[in-house]
Amino acid sequence: MYKIAVLPGDGIGPEVISQAVMVLEAVSRRFGLPLEMREGLAGGAALEATGSALPQETRDLVMNSQAILFGAMGGPRWDKDPRMAGGSLLIMRKTLGLFANLRPVRLYPALENASTIKKEVVSGTDILVVRENTGGLYFGEKRMEEGEDGPRAIDTMVYSRGEVERVARLSFDLARRRRKKLTSVDKANVLLCSRLWREVVDEVSRDYPDVELNHLYVDNCAMQLVRAPRQFDVIVTENTFGDILSDEAAMVTGSLGMLPSASIGGKIGLYEPVHGSAPDIAGEDRANPIAAILSAALMLRYSFSLEDGASEIEAAVGRVLDRGYRTADIMEEGCRLVGTREMGRLIAEEIYPSGE
Ligand code: NAI
Ligand code: MG
Repeated sequence: MYKIAVLPGDGIGPEVISQAVMVLEAVSRRFGLPLEMREGLAGGAALEATGSALPQETRDLVMNSQAILFGAMGGPRWDKDPRMAGGSLLIMRKTLGLFANLRPVRLYPALENASTIKKEVVSGTDILVVRENTGGLYFGEKRMEEGEDGPRAIDTMVYSRGEVERVARLSFDLARRRRKKLTSVDKANVLLCSRLWREVVDEVSRDYPDVELNHLYVDNCAMQLVRAPRQFDVIVTENTFGDILSDEAAMVTGSLGMLPSASIGGKIGLYEPVHGSAPDIAGEDRANPIAAILSAALMLRYSFSLEDGASEIEAAVGRVLDRGYRTADIMEEGCRLVGTREMGRLIAEEIYPSGE
């Protein structure tokens, strides 16, 4: 039995997650997989109902699962609420030991025109960005002090050998399952953390002679991503660089509504679309459910090693796009506009026709 905690959250979260659940049910029927999905409250919805954005009941549900399928949390009503701030998501990542954030950036042929970058440059792009997600600048010691000309702010970037080694190893393993090319990104000409990073990545690479490794400085990588994105297979980098580069890489595909993510490294993986709760379109059946659906595919791949199910979901998404169906965010002339539910239904039907 594969146990999944389903946390739809706020705004369009419940709309897109219900489509992802339907697609998982289709995969379960097609491949005979015993998936057990249980829903829990999270975010503003949970706050209203229980006074906590991540209530005890949800924490228990999560701890009794092998993977979490998450929608989005937040909205104008709660964004200033201190019980939401501090990011219950950040806390969840840290307690679950999810030190690697994975963002696949894959351009579906049908969407080549949706990118702001020229078709001949982006066509065929298929990158996996691995961002170290529980260390570095965002988690180092920070403080304010009095300087000679007023307040001084100090943030600290810290990495230990062990922190670099585990994310490097994971990235080599991922590259091995893909096109066997790993690009490690740092700023080793300036930062000590980066020098340690590079040293450790080189060391780990000796255990992976079949994976081709290269190092890029972060500023060069930022340029290469928009100049020639096809050169990349797996990119691994530290937290801050990864935050910026993963958003930059994402834009190659054109729309937020297409981008899934995975946070892994511990026993329980967290899978969620990159987008937020989109309050501006919530409740209107206009949200693109594909990011959530592709997040479910990542869950099958990385938490359960169910590669057949994962690639079938990805292929089904491709076929529905090839047939010309589009939600509003990726709409093009000559295509057929559909809502959230219809897009979900079309993808599920590709996987397991219900015989209607
Ligand atoms: P957002 O990602 O929710 O929306 C940005 C823009 O993209 C909006 O115009 C929205 O309509 C559009 N969009 C997003 N997802 C879409 C989809 N699936 N289909 C079609 N269009 C889509 O980011 P925003 O507006 O900055 O934040 C809204 C709320 O979401 C805030 O409360 C924020 O704190 C929260 N948020 C939560 C995240 C999470 O739970 N992991 C991540 C990012 C934001
Ligand atoms: Mg970001």
